[in-house]
Amino acid sequence: MDHHKQLTIGLFGFGTVGEGLFKVMKQTPSLKAVIKKICIKDPAKKRDAPASLFTTNRDELLQDNEINVIVEVIDDSEAAFEIVSIALKNGKSVVSASKKMIAEHLSELLEMQQTTGESFLYEAAACASIPVIRNLEEYYDNDLLHSIKAIVNGSTNFILTKMFEDNLDFKKSLMLAQQLGFAESNAKLDVEGYDAVNKWAFLLTHAYGIIENPQNIVFTGIQHIHAGDAKVAKEKNYSIKLVAQAQKLQNGKVAAFVLPQFIKHDDHLAFVRNEYNGVVIESGFADKQFFYGKGAGSFPTASAVLSDISALRYGYRYEYKKLYHHQPLELTREFYLKIFLSFDDWKFVPRESFEWIEEWHAQEERKYLVGVIAFSELTSKNWWRENNVSIILTPDPVIEDVELRKLKKRSLELAGIV
Ligand SMILES: NC(=O)c1ccc[n+]([C@@H]2O[C@H](COP(=O)([O-])OP(=O)(O)OC[C@H]3O[C@@H](n4cnc5c(N)ncnc54)[C@H](OP(=O)(O)O)[C@@H]3O)[C@@H](O)[C@H]2O)c1
Repeated sequence: MDHHKQLTIGLFGFGTVGEGLFKVMKQTPSLKAVIKKICIKDPAKKRDAPASLFTTNRDELLQDNEINVIVEVIDDSEAAFEIVSIALKNGKSVVSASKKMIAEHLSELLEMQQTTGESFLYEAAACASIPVIRNLEEYYDNDLLHSIKAIVNGSTNFILTKMFEDNLDFKKSLMLAQQLGFAESNAKLDVEGYDAVNKWAFLLTHAYGIIENPQNIVFTGIQHIHAGDAKVAKEKNYSIKLVAQAQKLQNGKVAAFVLPQFIKHDDHLAFVRNEYNGVVIESGFADKQFFYGKGAGSFPTASAVLSDISALRYGYRYEYKKLYHHQPLELTREFYLKIFLSFDDWKFVPRESFEWIEEWHAQEERKYLVGVIAFSELTSKNWWRENNVSIILTPDPVIEDVELRKLKKRSLELAGIV
């Protein structure tokens, strides 16, 4: 797209993000972009914008040759995919915030960008206001990126903060998140980790060139976190966060997962409270860098959409450098995790599956242990998601050393288990 060209926008969605964008654009006239038409679902809803802008007929946007940018911020991922596909094929640039749609259709979307040559930008879909995708694309070379560890879901972080700091119960914290526009309309997407793993799926593409269906990435949310876990965390001077992590191992492959994690108080992620997101990137020579910002909400998300629109003026496209210009990396299951596990009864926990158990408390009604387990146990079994079992990774949870296997028997003996 020539940078002198006027951007004429067709906007899909006028909810939290869409209306936010409309308002933000009114305050940034220098952008030289205009919203020509807005497509919504319910024509009867009252809108704080001129009625003539609205339609329920998507073709009024998708078939309008004057519209050269489609901004898609709706909450229906299948409809979103159709809209984005038609727009790209019709020669329009697209900006989207729909993480679920992007994660589930990533391969098709990559192919469409290749065949149409159009830009498809989605910074708002990852950590709302934090420019993480563009940084991973432009700054971090494959060899330099050791690990990336992030809080990518604002609403679970908000809920955990309210539960731990204000002692609100889970339900009240969730309701508050929804009232403030931080939570997805379907709360399960946030609370059970689907939203976080969706974002992680395409961030892995930008970080390491990995294309993986989110269903194949090990994840859970905060739904099983027990009041007793919070007590243990406080005793150990930790907080609990839902953390997405990817780490390059010595064998050149990548360990990746989205699981609750104990966070030490001097960890950068400990500073990430309420609806904020945080990303800690560890690179070859620069040690750690920390990105911090609002991960949800109307204006913060709209600001990322606006930045993508602005980038279209100079024809910006993601090059997917790690995928197309480097050797893409692979995910591996060949590593171990040090985990905390709390549960109601020992019968729900296969103790023999642990490499070793180094701490266990069996007297209380809610029992817990800390032990080391093969990651493949989590990918192949479901016991850790069932029967009110709660899993929380310990700080620095990844253990690579295969020699650990040899220690297994001895450690179990020491733990008095065999
Ligand atoms: N909220 C956030 O903080 C945030 C942050 C990052 C990314 N996102 C993503 O941004 C997207 C929008 O989120 P939101 O919070 O703004 O959702 P929302 O407040 O629920 O608004 C959704 C909008 O989409 C419209 N819509 C739904 N289906 C449609 C269809 N088939 N055709 C046209 N319009 C349709 C709705 O129309 P009506 O108004 O007629 O109902 C509504 O205006 C989602 O993909 C979400 O995951 C949200």
